[in-house]
Amino acid sequence: MDLKSLKIKAQEKIQKTKELKDLDSLWREYIGKKGKISKIFNALKDLSEEERRKIGKQANEIKEQIRHLIEEKRKELLEKETSKQEMESGIDVTLPGKKIEGGHLHPLTQVLERIEEIFGKMGFSIVEGPDIENEWYNFDALNIPKDHPARDLWDTLWLKIPKLLLRTHTSPVQIHYMEKNNPPFRIVVPGRVFRYEATDFSHEIQFYQLEGLMVDKDISLANLKAILIQFFKNFFGREVKIRFRPGYFPFTEPSIEADIRLNRKWMEVLGAGMVHPNVFKAARLNPHNWQGFAFGMGVDRLAMLKYKINDIRLFYNGDLRFLEQF
Ligand code: DAH
Repeated sequence: MDLKSLKIKAQEKIQKTKELKDLDSLWREYIGKKGKISKIFNALKDLSEEERRKIGKQANEIKEQIRHLIEEKRKELLEKETSKQEMESGIDVTLPGKKIEGGHLHPLTQVLERIEEIFGKMGFSIVEGPDIENEWYNFDALNIPKDHPARDLWDTLWLKIPKLLLRTHTSPVQIHYMEKNNPPFRIVVPGRVFRYEATDFSHEIQFYQLEGLMVDKDISLANLKAILIQFFKNFFGREVKIRFRPGYFPFTEPSIEADIRLNRKWMEVLGAGMVHPNVFKAARLNPHNWQGFAFGMGVDRLAMLKYKINDIRLFYNGDLRFLEQF
């Protein structure tokens, strides 16, 4: 049989095939080791050089074509098979599929990521510290002496292990960081803090703070103001007025509180000040060589202002009707 009619015959047979197993025998008949095309290859040795080349080439081409046809047919039959099975099992493949529910980040996480991005662009590194602290880092090193009434500003959750506590603010990370890094530097520290307090719409026993610390030779509160203006502008997406009021924190001198103007009201958003010399000393840095500002702001508070949320507890009770709005 010449190659052409072999190909036509094969084509016809493949076309007519209705069963996968018949397709397998066609494969054996044509493509397989003992198949028709192999036989042609075997017979090549008896031919002249010129014919060998010509017929060899044709045989190769036809082998490829038949192989392709069989593969296509196989796909077609397989598809028919599965839809037949689906019909028999009562699955209606024409029904729209069930949508896979995608989760998303918690609103506080979204806000934290945005805050980190803005400070990151202003050259601040993101630093973290432990949730469990001892008295030294949470109080003493921050210039809050034992038995000093200022300690009562932070209602503390103590652990059963003596002297250990859940940090009441992110300020202790200032000390951790300055123990290990020499200025100049600028960092922000996002993190969870804990207070032993009754909860209401504006108080939770846990919430998030963002601590900031920038230390160099010649840093002032004017630098802090410039950075905060830039930050709030980016965070709220518009110019925000800001004002400093005198305040008191043991770890800064002078200390201030900052308000921003939103919806024609002044809202307190952070505490700040110039790092107290005793704080530098506690972290083994020489206060004569360095100066800097520190600040601490409430992340939940900012998120509430941004999204007009009126109860901080909504962030922590896991109610999907709330969470799904973000
Ligand atoms: N740690 C303070 C608090 O939790 C907030 C704060 C105030 C942090 C002034 C600072 C600062 O770094 O300079 O109430």
